Amino acid sequence: MNIVLIGFMGSGKTTVGKALANNLKFSFLDTDEYIEERAGMKISDIFATQGEKYFRELERSILGELTDRDHTVIATGGGLPLIEENRKRLKKIGKVIYLSANEQTLWKHLEGDCSRPLLAGENPRKKIQELLLERIPIYRQASDYCIEVDNRCIDGITKEIEKIVKSA
Ligand code: S3P
Repeated sequence: MNIVLIGFMGSGKTTVGKALANNLKFSFLDTDEYIEERAGMKISDIFATQGEKYFRELERSILGELTDRDHTVIATGGGLPLIEENRKRLKKIGKVIYLSANEQTLWKHLEGDCSRPLLAGENPRKKIQELLLERIPIYRQASDYCIEVDNRCIDGITKEIEKIVKSA
């Protein structure tokens, strides 16, 4: 039994995931951190030196290693569910929970952030809007449950996920 958190950058997957793992006495794994450890490089440097395609290949490849995990909360990079093969794998790995945040919430968390290469251009807010349009249907399709996180505290969100998991 695992819990997989998906959603846009800045939706709180890592923060919620850590709190959830702590409450449930599960392990915690963040795919971005895992990739950075493996590559010995920050994600922004992977994008800058090897490109996004290479990063997506790393995501695809590490996902294959997570199939034998148990009692783990896995926080995924925001772009990981864009690939169909990844979506299928996520569903096999565990209950997939989409942390759904609106554009204002995301901007509050992402404004001034320098760690996300996809938002490094001239108009990061517009980029968020464009990516959201493209990705919301994919996140919905990839998930078993959708949780709205706007204006909510971490504790409330984790409690809701715990309830879902316990009744599943
Ligand atoms: C990305 C999200 C990031 C990271 C990379 C690409 C995306 O992870 O994987 O910068 O395509 O949405 P977070 O969602 O943890 O920020």
